[in-house]
Amino acid sequence: MANGTHVLVLPFPGQGHINPMLQFASRLASKGLKTTLVTTVFISKSIYSDHPIASTSFRTISDGFDEGGFAQAKSPDIYLSTFKSVGSQSLASLIKELGDSGSPVHAIIYDGFMAWALDVAKQWGIRAAVFLTQSCAVNSIHYHVSRGLLKVPAEGSSVWLSGLPELKVWELPSLIYHHGSYPAWFDTIVNQFSNIDEADWVLVNTFYELEKEVVDWMSKIWKLGTIGPTIPSMYLDKRLKHNKDYGLQLLHPNTSACMRWLNTKPNGSVVYVSFGSLAEVGVEQMAEIAWGLIGTNAYFLWVVREPEEPKLPDNFKHMTREKGLIVRWCPQLEVLKHGSIGCFVSHCGYNSVLEALGLGVPIVAMPQWADQATNAKHVEDVWGVGVRALVDEKGIVRRETIKQCINEVIMGGERGNEIKKNSIKWKNLAIKAADHGGSSDKNIDEFVAKITS
Ligand code: UDX
Repeated sequence: MANGTHVLVLPFPGQGHINPMLQFASRLASKGLKTTLVTTVFISKSIYSDHPIASTSFRTISDGFDEGGFAQAKSPDIYLSTFKSVGSQSLASLIKELGDSGSPVHAIIYDGFMAWALDVAKQWGIRAAVFLTQSCAVNSIHYHVSRGLLKVPAEGSSVWLSGLPELKVWELPSLIYHHGSYPAWFDTIVNQFSNIDEADWVLVNTFYELEKEVVDWMSKIWKLGTIGPTIPSMYLDKRLKHNKDYGLQLLHPNTSACMRWLNTKPNGSVVYVSFGSLAEVGVEQMAEIAWGLIGTNAYFLWVVREPEEPKLPDNFKHMTREKGLIVRWCPQLEVLKHGSIGCFVSHCGYNSVLEALGLGVPIVAMPQWADQATNAKHVEDVWGVGVRALVDEKGIVRRETIKQCINEVIMGGERGNEIKKNSIKWKNLAIKAADHGGSSDKNIDEFVAKITS
């Protein structure tokens, strides 16, 4: 029966959402489901793939901006509202077309950022699972806001929520702490929970052991399945031999230059620096990172996306050519897995955190926005796999702080050794969760059994 069951997987069109949902689709395909990943027309024109995922088919819907995607819209508000109206119609047409062509859709797994997809599924009488791409802790905070159980802006200096550690207000997701900063994104985040009670399943990209208390708490509200970490199998449990890569890249990684360079470096000697696919780092902050990196004894591999390049200090690339490599995009998993990497200076986007955890790489956390401050809190205080490089009164992390944090993590010493020990512990637990009979594997099996029944 599993072989005949067709599931549409619908991620929000961004790298940090496509990666986990495409991986989940590939896990489902390995368990016999027919899976189709649905991207937008614009994304389908911009993607690049080294190892296409053969087990999953691809189809497109329109977000209303087929020529330029998000960048074509005049504001996030216009993009998100147009995506909802045009995307709903376009998704309905795709469901009809697939049904007419003999490949009917039996279930939809939609990104929580696109809560409107549940309404489309209901109209067509199709069962639906919401996929929450952020940590359970972050989801719980947003859920509390959506139900009016946590006021925004938060009052007092700390908040206490069930299953979570005490959170200082600045450790909350930025859309809540800096309320009003990005109203359209705030609505999207909170809206994930507007109709969630009507979804047939709630899937979260985490694993039980990582967030036990908050998962237990949320499981009292919904039928919750933890199914992560959604890292390609060959970096984790190694059961899916063809699953070596996320499958779709929106930017071209400079793979050969990175790997050739890393191969010449001693074990644990390189600091990998990346702020993900979206963050825009200020000019002053870029300079502090640059000088902080120069100040350490380590080599560095720094991902600076093309639009960020002009912010690098003059002559920096040339000046540091013996010590560092700067690229526009890299194969992050391959890099993190490389023996030369000693630590990851990260914005703490949730995928980056899960990848570092899954590959046992210690983190120096420099959160920028969205869920990242909360992820960074967990990295340091809950999971013990890194340190936070704290900002000064101007909101900038200074070069001395960056240097100290990197040295603390890579040079050994009591705290550095403890962090390394914890990193290995979480790596093993992540592999165990994804492997045969692990907590996430069992939840995926259960989901497949229900969806096919
Ligand atoms: C966004 C949000 O910013 C983040 O906070 C949220 O949790 C998810 O969506 P992004 O900022 O891009 O994502 O960060 P992240 O979640 O870390 O995802 C980036 C992805 O791009 C990772 O899977 C990473 O492996 C990949 N990547 C990054 C590369 O493949 N190459 C690079 O050079 C950098």
